[in-house]
Amino acid sequence: MTLPKACIFDLDGVIVDTVPAHYVAWKAMADELNIPFSETDNEQLKGVSRTESMKRILAMGGIEKSNIEIEEMTTKKNYIYVDIISKMTPEDVLPGVVRFLDLLDQNHIQIALGSSSKNAPTILKAVGLADRFKVSVDGNQISHSKPHPEVFLLGADRMGLNPSECVVFEDAISGVQAAKRGNFKCVGVGDPQVLNEADLVVPDMKNIDLTIFENI
Ligand code: BG6
Ligand code: MG
Repeated sequence: MTLPKACIFDLDGVIVDTVPAHYVAWKAMADELNIPFSETDNEQLKGVSRTESMKRILAMGGIEKSNIEIEEMTTKKNYIYVDIISKMTPEDVLPGVVRFLDLLDQNHIQIALGSSSKNAPTILKAVGLADRFKVSVDGNQISHSKPHPEVFLLGADRMGLNPSECVVFEDAISGVQAAKRGNFKCVGVGDPQVLNEADLVVPDMKNIDLTIFENI
């Protein structure tokens, strides 16, 4: 494709390295429930909302809980998670991200956020990137979790763009699926075998430049 008019970035695992913190917090909850929970299990939860993630962990253990109990458990998970991310600084932005955002700015390509996280505003502020996103859609503004495309469609709509004019950057299987279901081109960030539905996969954001758009 020619240069897109906008790039929509996932947050966790693309802009900041919060995946280990999510894993630690979910693992603590799973341990409490005596449910085995590995990093491979965590892979399936990437991009998935907090409540839906809790429900999936309970399903892994064949445990049923009421909505109130689920709410209590997700609140507890978030305490553990927020305690970890409250120590974040600009150094926690993943390598290459700021350089790539600068490159997009220099080429008048709009920058948007499309995250399932309700903690996104806090994280962006902590790492000093809150002002870099022209449009920011996060878990507080959507009703459907990835792989539903709502988060990206809302982002494109707020920029007055069609999905075909935007490229999504995603590290989660559910996020890649959300982008493709919304008819966006998608760059996967991570393992090409895991993110095989993406149009192109890069291992990380380190060496990414505008030539990436020639290949999708
Ligand atoms: C996504 C993460 O970005 O946000 C998921 O990949 C997480 O792991 C989801 O569950 C919701 O995040 P939060 O911060 O609202 O609990
Ligand atoms: Mg992610």
